[in-house]
Amino acid sequence: MPVKVQQHNLAGHEDDPCNIPSEQFSKLGCANSPKSTFPRTSTEEFCTGTSLSKDVANNTKNKNKNVFRDGPVVIELFAGSGRLTAALKSCGVHSAFGVDHKKLSSIAPIMLADLTTRAGQALFMTWMDAPNLAGIFAAPPCGTCSLARNIKIRGPKGNIISGPVPLRSPKFPEGFPNLANTNLKRVLAANKLYDFLSKVVLKANDRNLIFVIENPRSSLFWLTKFFQRIKHLFTFVAHQACAYGSERPKWTALAVNRPEFLQIKLT
Ligand SMILES: C[S@@+](CC[C@H](N)C(=O)[O-])C[C@H]1O[C@@H](n2cnc3c(N)ncnc32)[C@H](O)[C@@H]1O
Repeated sequence: MPVKVQQHNLAGHEDDPCNIPSEQFSKLGCANSPKSTFPRTSTEEFCTGTSLSKDVANNTKNKNKNVFRDGPVVIELFAGSGRLTAALKSCGVHSAFGVDHKKLSSIAPIMLADLTTRAGQALFMTWMDAPNLAGIFAAPPCGTCSLARNIKIRGPKGNIISGPVPLRSPKFPEGFPNLANTNLKRVLAANKLYDFLSKVVLKANDRNLIFVIENPRSSLFWLTKFFQRIKHLFTFVAHQACAYGSERPKWTALAVNRPEFLQIKLT
């Protein structure tokens, strides 16, 4: 059943310096949400894990009844501080874990893998083979995709000082053709991660796993060919960080494949 996403949450907002123009965001399909095969799990059930276990069990057609005794596994991909994993654990999803190339957190278990490398990607795929894997949350790096790079930074005397330069644009979402040295390396590394993420999404989709991708609403990540190749599997919802306790105004978009996440839309 198509899910209606409230347009005003996704349209551009002049006060937000990182905002992507609404006509670009509508390319993501949020104005007319794509078809989706939404299941049954409510957010509350997600916290108890009961419905997720059912979901997973249905997917694998009860091949092995004992597989689910430890409850569902949820992977926080690009986990950073691992706060989502910690929150899931506090909701009773005890087998949740994060994956990152750095261990930044002691509040949650983080498995280490450099996902730009073949070895790291192969390792991740073995974790994905867990039969009780229920879902994946991914917050891919967005530093090279930020429209904030276009903002001129002024020094104390009002003079323009050099800040981070734009590395991508809506016309060149995979990176400007003339990038060199460190900037080129950074964009290529991020693109490798986006390419890998798209493969993870396709594999997860084959198993009807829950999937959420998070990035700033204005991020050029959404326009890359890597995301465009999987966007038909998602619908979109945006929220304002202030509405969830942050002191900094920041629009975040979630690409989701379950309707329950559409509740995360406070502005
Ligand atoms: C947008 S941040 C995620 C932040 C996280 N959601 C949090 O709340 O802390 C992206 C994450 O990707 C990770 N990352 C960057 N390059 C990576 C790589 N090559 N392999 C795995 N993770 C990587 C970074 O360490 C960072 O934690």
